[in-house]
Amino acid sequence: MNFSGMLKEDTLKNKTILITGGGTGLGKSMGKYFVELGANLIITSRRQEVLNKTATELGGNILPLAGDVRDHKDVQRILDASLEKFGTIDGLLNNAAGNFISPTERLSPKAFDVVVDIVLKGTYNYSLLLGKYWIENKQPGVMLNIVTTYAWTGSSFVAPSAAAKGGVLALTRSLAAEWVKYGIRCNAIAPGPFPTKGAWDRLFPKPISTFFNFEKSLPMKRYGNHQELANLAAYMLSDYSAYMNGEVVTLDGGEWIHNAGEFNKLEKIPKKAWAIIERAVRGKKK
Ligand code: HXC
Ligand code: NAP
Repeated sequence: MNFSGMLKEDTLKNKTILITGGGTGLGKSMGKYFVELGANLIITSRRQEVLNKTATELGGNILPLAGDVRDHKDVQRILDASLEKFGTIDGLLNNAAGNFISPTERLSPKAFDVVVDIVLKGTYNYSLLLGKYWIENKQPGVMLNIVTTYAWTGSSFVAPSAAAKGGVLALTRSLAAEWVKYGIRCNAIAPGPFPTKGAWDRLFPKPISTFFNFEKSLPMKRYGNHQELANLAAYMLSDYSAYMNGEVVTLDGGEWIHNAGEFNKLEKIPKKAWAIIERAVRGKKK
């Protein structure tokens, strides 16, 4: 395994990338690598102090700006301030999310709203307002949306997140088709489990993690490493991926396929038993 950066060091030189949810978790790890590759960053989320701390930690040319992705006025303000500082924005990473584990019947309408609004409305607010700017200014741009594999499988206990991520995936493909004529590309990554405090506190809290060993249940018996995701995201936001549009790339160590295949559970059958099974199957022919 190689958990180091894989792209040439000037891959994102002179590129300005805006990352929603860029102060923590995966947004922070991806941002760290983009800075190493020469990018200017705008990082945004609701907590200014968290953003400031991350900007100081990462170094480089970073503008930390607090705002709520659900509020289109905040989004416009952040875009205006970013354009004033950097003159341009080349890439958008829609990464902010809200999520928590819960049986759906326990949710209030407001609890459903909060997740769908952060994930879906947040993504379309940034995509729409920055997309309009790119189109009006005849400027090419690239968008990268972070979804999950349950955007297409669905999942128990995270129904609002699944519904919203499914919407983001449909938006990704819709804009990829509609805005390619303006030189705008739109792709997505569907990560499997990559440990972050934000996700683990809300999805795998103590009572749940004591019931089963999630990491060992994965086909590769390990979680993703943040640099593995950062490598892919940097590629998908760079000019190296110029011919990729409307794509969703899964990075989950084969997790969802492993859980989906009709006969995959037969892995549990001991190797020795296959001789008996084969005899039984062949026997049916007579
Ligand atoms: C039931 C809950 C709840 C819970 C909140 N609510 N938590 N209901 N179970 N555990 C309800 C509240 O009671 C309220 O409804 C409504 O949701 C809004 O709650 P607030 O606390 O007022 O919302 P807010 O302060 O805006 O916080 C938003 C949040 C929070 C989504 C609830 O968790 C947050 O800030 N999350 C941001 C970061 C995050 O979620 N990161 C994880 C992403 S991981 P009522 O009706 O009572 O007023 C991810 C990974 C996917 O997406 C794949 C992993 C493999
Ligand atoms: P995280 O650290 O909690 O990231 C979520 C970020 O979104 C936080 O920085 C949060 O900051 C920001 N945010 C939330 N609500 C916001 C709002 N209304 N306005 C602006 N920013 C807001 O969790 P993560 O694991 O890194 O998740 C990052 C992305 O990866 C998400 O899209 C998630 O769905 C996806 N993902 C994660 C995993 C995983 O295993 N970790 C797997 C699949 C997909 P504030 O709270 O300060 O606003």
